[in-house]
Amino acid sequence: MSAPPTPLLQEFLQRCQNRVESRLQAVFEGMSPEDTTPNLVRALQYACLGGGKRIRPVLVYGTCQVLGIDLERADNAACAVELVHCYSLAHDDLPSMDDDNMRRGKPSLHKAFDEATAILAGDALQSLAFELLSRDNGVAATNRLRMVETLSRAIGAEGMVAGQDLDFSASGQKREESQLAKLHGLKTGALIRACLTLGALGKDEVDDNALAALDEYGRYIGLAFQVQDDILDVVANTESLGKPQGSDQVHDKPTYVSILGLEAALVKASELTDQAHKALLALPGEAEILHDLATYITARSH
Ligand code: IPE
Ligand code: IPE
Ligand code: MG
Ligand code: MG
Ligand code: MG
Repeated sequence: MSAPPTPLLQEFLQRCQNRVESRLQAVFEGMSPEDTTPNLVRALQYACLGGGKRIRPVLVYGTCQVLGIDLERADNAACAVELVHCYSLAHDDLPSMDDDNMRRGKPSLHKAFDEATAILAGDALQSLAFELLSRDNGVAATNRLRMVETLSRAIGAEGMVAGQDLDFSASGQKREESQLAKLHGLKTGALIRACLTLGALGKDEVDDNALAALDEYGRYIGLAFQVQDDILDVVANTESLGKPQGSDQVHDKPTYVSILGLEAALVKASELTDQAHKALLALPGEAEILHDLATYITARSH
């Protein structure tokens, strides 16, 4: 069931979306024209600015809000996760991957530019993410190193890229629910899950119990996010866009909807959300923003 975010979350989403947009703009504007090309910079801006829900940066900032960490200490991590996400979308849409012509309501990067530029821009976005994470912003160097480790593990051959490989080889194949949970947990869940740790590492002395609770919460919402993405691929394409089929159906991808059916996929999403709420009970304080975000992730309509 789709539902709007709570007023508290609505305000927080808007604030974080504006914040990450302006920080990303500044990063691109700060690039030295002598060392780059106008084509590449335009492609990076096209891929990253003016679109997207910014859920991953919001999770980084939301963690800081809950743990009482100054949001300034999270700006680089918030930008880094969005840069990685935008790189993954640019590559995900390529003809050799999902072959999607539209992204965030406009032509996908390889359509607006060309395939070579989309590949190179993705590469550059990934490096830029790590450059930002490593920059001295007042956070202890050991924590920044842990951030680099957290993000690199989450998105590489034991994380997002492995998930994309599983996803690619799953087209037209039958998969058990447990295999799909692994695939989704890697391709989408791992980056989302990392956002919680990245936010918490903004605090120099971070409590291990809090990190564990946030990681558990991240694992549930990460999977819930992709279950909802599968649901929306079917529901949004049949209901609002008038298209008979979503991208997953075109590529005959096993999804929570194709394996379980729509009703059971909705139940699954709601169970994962309940487990995420429960994980937060181990944190000190109310963690209201993270509760609201967990609810929003499966109540969102896009
Ligand atoms: C879409 O992610 C791709 C997945 C990993 C499921 P989002 O739904 O977060 O996309 P944007 O950033 O809002 O466009
Ligand atoms: C995208 O998953 C996952 C990554 C980009 C890592 P999908 O292929 O399901 O995302 P959409 O549906 O194209 O946004
Ligand atoms: Mg894909
Ligand atoms: Mg795709
Ligand atoms: Mg999808």
